[in-house]
Amino acid sequence: MSTLEPTTASSRKLYIESYGCAMNFSDSEIIASIMGEHGFESTNQEEEADVIFLNTCAIRDNAEQRIRTRLIHLRSNKKQNSDLIIGVLGCMAERLKDKLLEEEKLVDVVAGPDSYRELPKLVAEVDEGGRAINVLLSREETYGDLNPVRLNSNGVNAFVSIMRGCDNMCSFCVVPFTRGRERSRDPKSIIKEAIELQNQGYKELILLGQNVDSFLWFGGGAKKDFKKLTEEERNQSIDFADLIEMVAQSVPNMRIRYSTSHPRDINEKVVHVMAKYLNICNYIHLPAQSGNSRVLEAMSRNYTREWYMDKITMIRNIIPDCGISCDIIAGFCTETEKEHKDTLSLIEWAKFDFSYMYKYSERPGTPAAKKFTDDIPEDVKGRRLSEIIAIQNKVSKEKSTDYIGKEVIVLIENSSKKSDQDWMGRNDQNLVVVFPKESYKKGEFVKVLVERCTTTTLIGKAIGIASIS
Ligand code: 5AD
Ligand code: SF4
Repeated sequence: MSTLEPTTASSRKLYIESYGCAMNFSDSEIIASIMGEHGFESTNQEEEADVIFLNTCAIRDNAEQRIRTRLIHLRSNKKQNSDLIIGVLGCMAERLKDKLLEEEKLVDVVAGPDSYRELPKLVAEVDEGGRAINVLLSREETYGDLNPVRLNSNGVNAFVSIMRGCDNMCSFCVVPFTRGRERSRDPKSIIKEAIELQNQGYKELILLGQNVDSFLWFGGGAKKDFKKLTEEERNQSIDFADLIEMVAQSVPNMRIRYSTSHPRDINEKVVHVMAKYLNICNYIHLPAQSGNSRVLEAMSRNYTREWYMDKITMIRNIIPDCGISCDIIAGFCTETEKEHKDTLSLIEWAKFDFSYMYKYSERPGTPAAKKFTDDIPEDVKGRRLSEIIAIQNKVSKEKSTDYIGKEVIVLIENSSKKSDQDWMGRNDQNLVVVFPKESYKKGEFVKVLVERCTTTTLIGKAIGIASIS
């Protein structure tokens, strides 16, 4: 039998380690599914693995450095077990391509985000004594027909990928180069996956895409330019607002979240659908990146500070208590002190519940790397980042404090990290809530009375079971 045919014969063990964004963790579940059909059983015990895949991230240099350190460690394991196959997958594989095989002599497989169906074949090539690489990007691949294997799952929340790639070309970002062109997944397969997850007892879906607001499916095909669609295709097309409405109706007892929105594309139609359905969480991750219009232009974000502020106002007019989080980059090329202060004032004004905050990291080959010098000294970037974090922490604490004395609905996800006597879950706005377990169970929706808080965690007491439908 060829190694490429599905098999139930004695299986080999696959260990996948995921780095970076939620999309990567979701991809690892697709990889586990593909490999599972070819006789590779997923394990979470690294020691028993025959194949180790690192599903990597390239978004900032420090992500890549962490992975390199890990590869050096794996190299010594490989010296003890020469049959061990080591693969580097994902964005770092796509960025470095065959350089990875040359630099990291003990890497056997290199595979980019659109070539996971080829993995069993690539491993078979290694079995034959070679080393194998596939980093071709695709305009169609969405892995929509596959059943992801839920890895390290708590049985409560599950990722569902709704699109792949990104067409935005923000100047700092390597993603359009590592994940290729944007394409939407067939809504039918998304709904099918959602219903299956509901039947398996999952309680929350997190719909994933780099820019969910540009999701577009027209009568039987992936995204193409809306302007070029025929009248009939336009009438049949399904946009992101349509999609979340379909999902909300299909799995009424599940919570639905999504990420990531783009300030240029988010629109009232999406926010109205969110407001209409109790089971769609009132939470939007809306990266601003900077609070200054000139810097935003240099970043090719295609919106201004005022446009961003108008979007926040639009969201809060429709859903007053909507949770909003942000991504911020400190010290982008040419950013002045005054422009940095505009970012600080935007955080104060927008009152983000929380933010992910980073120092700018130049990525080779990106438009910013070609066009600008990475001219903000490291210590200045560090100081600006500290100022951003300080102001965000202040705002987060104020927002969390506002919840004290109020009831929130929480989906129980896991034991709290600090005490196994407490549960942790999230409220509608995606804030972590911790409370004593009593007789409540994982996967239940409960009402919690908030009694105190830390910067971004609400602490309280459960006061009964809740309903979200
Ligand atoms: N340097 C720093 N942060 C970056 N991000 C993307 N590219 C870079 C980079 N080169 C951040 C952005 C994005 C998040 C996923 O990572 O804020 O929204
Ligand atoms: Fe990168 Fe911009 Fe696409 Fe986000 S929207 S993945 S920051 S190019």
